[in-house]
Amino acid sequence: MADADIELRPATLDDAGSVADLETARTPDEPVAGVMMAYWWTHPTDGQKTIRLVGERDGAVAVFVEAEHDRWHEHERHFGYVRTGVHPAAWTDSLFREGMATGEAWLRSERGDVAVAAAREDFHRELALLSEMGYQEERRERYWELDLEARRAELLAMAEKSRADMKRQGIALLTLDRDSDPKTLVKLYELDLAATRDIPTTVPIHMSGFETWSRNYFENPGIRKDRFWIAKEGDEVVGMSLVSFPPERGVPSTEFTGTSPQHRGRGVGRALEYETVAQAIELGATRIRTDNDSANAPILHLNEEMGYQPIKAYIELHRELG
Ligand SMILES: CC(C)(COP(=O)(O)OP(=O)(O)OC[C@H]1O[C@@H](n2cnc3c(N)ncnc32)[C@H](O)[C@@H]1OP(=O)(O)O)[C@@H](O)C(=O)NCCC(=O)NCCS
Repeated sequence: MADADIELRPATLDDAGSVADLETARTPDEPVAGVMMAYWWTHPTDGQKTIRLVGERDGAVAVFVEAEHDRWHEHERHFGYVRTGVHPAAWTDSLFREGMATGEAWLRSERGDVAVAAAREDFHRELALLSEMGYQEERRERYWELDLEARRAELLAMAEKSRADMKRQGIALLTLDRDSDPKTLVKLYELDLAATRDIPTTVPIHMSGFETWSRNYFENPGIRKDRFWIAKEGDEVVGMSLVSFPPERGVPSTEFTGTSPQHRGRGVGRALEYETVAQAIELGATRIRTDNDSANAPILHLNEEMGYQPIKAYIELHRELG
């Protein structure tokens, strides 16, 4: 029971659209489509365990509780994520508190050590309650938006310049659909593994095996091979960058940019990002977003150079479950 008249029950895939509506009502400037929610629910990483609960009012989801954790690894602390979304029209402090407590109780039953929550920096009500519950800021994920209309000319000129720079260095920039090497996907997977290891983080990022990794990328309704950019030097895949274009509603956002540790500082990350931006302009997008950890110096440097403007950051908070 979450509140006097809102009872939580396990969510089913049929609730995905209503949960997306709830999330969109919470953050209208970050709309989410039901098809994306359904995709996330059906594409866990290897070994991930999740519970999802919904509470309804007047036929729509008013509370959404989700808790999840990766497979526990030896010698690592057991981190798990807990989220509670309450519709602004249904908000009470106790709904939020009870949602968090429900997620934490499950995490404890799973032998979790640390509950991890995230709240946007302007969600003062949630942040105050999380602080009362004992959550403390651990890191910040910075979010950015690039105005493709206002900066169109500079962005296209920079794309051209970095394209020429790559050509000079013998590095090819192309989309995945244009690559014919049957080994490219496995090489890309290995590159993703290596680059992901270098993302600053407190909670370890556990990558899936190749099969799940492929499924999760290529069954994502926002991702297409003809919008998935790679950089190759000979047969070696040295970089990747892609923007996800969510269907129905949602702002196009960089999904990931990574370069091979052996080839950093050669302009590959920059050139790939400019290709994705030039393509977004060509596709008629007016803005794109990206997010990165506030300690990720190289990508922050690139974002600033490209003219990305900061939007609201998300604060990652941790609480020992004891
Ligand atoms: C971020 C990343 C993609 C950059 O790739 P790259 O191929 O080295 O990028 P580039 O060579 O085009 O540019 C990197 C820029 O960062 C700068 N840079 C590198 N380390 C830096 C630091 N500690 N502080 C400030 N700037 C730094 C470089 O000098 C270069 O800028 P410059 O050309 O103006 O001198 C790469 O570091 C990476 O894969 N990191 C791990 C994955 C990751 O964090 N991805 C992004 C967020 S999800």
